[in-house]
Amino acid sequence: MSNFNITTLGQFIIERQNEYRDAKGAFSRLLRDIGIAAKVISREVNKAGLAEILGEAGHDNVQGEAVKKLDVIANELFIDCLTRGGECCAIASEENEDIIQIDSPVSKNAKYIVTLDPLDGSSNIDVNVSIGTIFSIYKRITQTGTPATTEDFFQCGNKAVAAGYVIYGSSTMLVYTTGNGVNGFTLDPSIGEFCLSHLNMKFPKDGTVYSLNEGNKAAFPDFVNKYIDWCQQTDKDTKRPYSARYIGSMVADVHRNLNKGGIFIYPPTAKAPKGKLRLLYECNPMSFIIEQAGGIATTGTERILDIVPSALHQRVPIILGSENMVKKVLEFMK
Ligand code: AHG
Ligand code: MN
Ligand code: MN
Repeated sequence: MSNFNITTLGQFIIERQNEYRDAKGAFSRLLRDIGIAAKVISREVNKAGLAEILGEAGHDNVQGEAVKKLDVIANELFIDCLTRGGECCAIASEENEDIIQIDSPVSKNAKYIVTLDPLDGSSNIDVNVSIGTIFSIYKRITQTGTPATTEDFFQCGNKAVAAGYVIYGSSTMLVYTTGNGVNGFTLDPSIGEFCLSHLNMKFPKDGTVYSLNEGNKAAFPDFVNKYIDWCQQTDKDTKRPYSARYIGSMVADVHRNLNKGGIFIYPPTAKAPKGKLRLLYECNPMSFIIEQAGGIATTGTERILDIVPSALHQRVPIILGSENMVKKVLEFMK
């Protein structure tokens, strides 16, 4: 019997490409390119403490070179990988105000566009706490060969053809969906490959963890505070009080909850009256994954994936997690 019993991300993409009828080759190559970008960013994240690439951009390091924030480095690496790959014609990134057009001779005829949060959890970069990358892929709707427009990016989340995140944690993992369930791959640094480690991930229906920035409690809507009070009450049957867990990187908080059960909430606050998290490259991709795993993602009044975007950096409130926990929060809205 062979000892080679691993499935790499590359192999998995090819094996599953029949699930996606249209443009199999191009789509598989784009996913592969994203996997490559994730590996390069993982390498940079791992050596961050050594390379003087921590901290704020805008000042010089000891060699007199301008220091780039890791967010900026990750953004550039991702754009470079997708440009080289040639299957993506435009990107909407957290780090760029406008759409980035990739107009190299190959890319400009590509069918796909990508939304990107190159590094999620900025406040955790300098302190060696888990951070992530979030992406989603759409098919453009305007004419191929012309510059992509906001119309392409203002498609509802339910139109995405794929979405995923990478978590740079105690190990690096890539988790993604193409609308046929959710699968997770752990980077094996010894062979430099993402290996299938979490097949068909399911969001537990119940959980005992709630994640939100309770420091903002005074500004939360009433129903959120009522829910927090409920979580903190003692009740043996429902295993309360629940545990509070908040990392401050959406990817890491949602990844933990996806594995263990739980709820993540970023409600409107005084500082961020429409919520803080961005629809195109944070809420939509994470909601696509969470729904594919059996969880729920809502603003409280609307399914996240049904929102028609109206701005590239639009923010929305979000409640996302285990089905029964989200339903409980919504009861307090009534
Ligand atoms: P980013 O680092 O990409 O700007 O995103 C940070 C986000 C998200 O990851 C996290 O859930 C949230 O900001 C934390 O915000 P607070 O510090 O306000 O809790
Ligand atoms: Mn983010
Ligand atoms: Mn970010």
